[in-house]
Amino acid sequence: VREGLKKLFQTNEEVLMLASTGTGAMDATVSNLFSPGDTVITVNAGKFGQRWTKIAQAYGLRAVELTLEPGRAPQISQIETLLRAHPESRAVLFQASETSTGVQLPTREICELVRRQPGCLAVVDAITALGVFDLPMDAWGIDVLITGSQKALMLPPGMACIALSQRAWEAQSRSRLPKFYFDLAREHKAHLKNQTAWTPATAQIIGLQESLRLIHEEGLQNIFARHARLALATREGVKALGLDILANDSPSTAVTAVRVPAEILDGKRIPRTMRDKHGVIIAGGQDELEGKIFRLSHFGYVGPFDVITGLAALEMTLFELGYKKFEFGDATGAALRVFSENP
Ligand SMILES: Cc1ncc(COP(=O)(O)O)c(C=O)c1O
Repeated sequence: VREGLKKLFQTNEEVLMLASTGTGAMDATVSNLFSPGDTVITVNAGKFGQRWTKIAQAYGLRAVELTLEPGRAPQISQIETLLRAHPESRAVLFQASETSTGVQLPTREICELVRRQPGCLAVVDAITALGVFDLPMDAWGIDVLITGSQKALMLPPGMACIALSQRAWEAQSRSRLPKFYFDLAREHKAHLKNQTAWTPATAQIIGLQESLRLIHEEGLQNIFARHARLALATREGVKALGLDILANDSPSTAVTAVRVPAEILDGKRIPRTMRDKHGVIIAGGQDELEGKIFRLSHFGYVGPFDVITGLAALEMTLFELGYKKFEFGDATGAALRVFSENP
């Protein structure tokens, strides 16, 4: 499992397995890398970016937040301006894919920028990105890379994985924030002996062994291509119904967030009808986006006919809820065309 994780993270560093959900690894990042009063830049492209801010503040850091409109990705120049205004920044914390809005962030470009600022780390929450699209940790100079078992690892929730670069380990050794359960140095030492610091989440690790077998059998680049094709088909399907994608400029390969059309007054009925009437589970919007968007995921143990089934159920649901500006088969037809034209 340790070797398989390194290949998945595309790193020579040890990947640590924590018995927690993804947020545990985000929490561990902050408590292990920083000291009270440190300044960090957080990129809030949605709910999970905002979580970086909240965790940093909970640990007494000064979080300088770049707040974006829902559906927008940051411009590199915006982060550059913040780094120039705050040269003392210890890190830029962001999501590779912001699940709440379906935005994909320019991870490679952000890492390149951060590299030029001495003492500043690039911290990437890749919970709905790692294993979905290419994020080569060592090649891109990612300092912290995080994922969670319930996403592209195709497991139940309950395990987080985190890898630190050498620069991040140096920061870890200098950090003065209190840590105990999530002491990553202690966890690292245990992993080198094929152990974990505390009781291992054995069911997750055994499941992960099988997920990693599936992943490496298919091949990372093949998986990324499959996900890109499924994402494109989903977007084309949705657009063929006359609907708008929230993150139109920078859509995520992991999840497509769609604006609820004006004809449907209660947007929360879309995921409910999909699930209760048609047996297809999708997600609604969270917080201020509740009732305003719905989200379709297209990564992990999925193929073209999962997308087709989802879009067929969506067509029926929209029609039943009063949105009728399309012909049946528009979404599924557009998706089938993408699959046929991109074999
Ligand atoms: C991008 C991102 N970050 C963080 C989290 C939080 O992870 P968890 O709910 O496993 O704690 C999620 C969960 O969906 C996520 O998608």
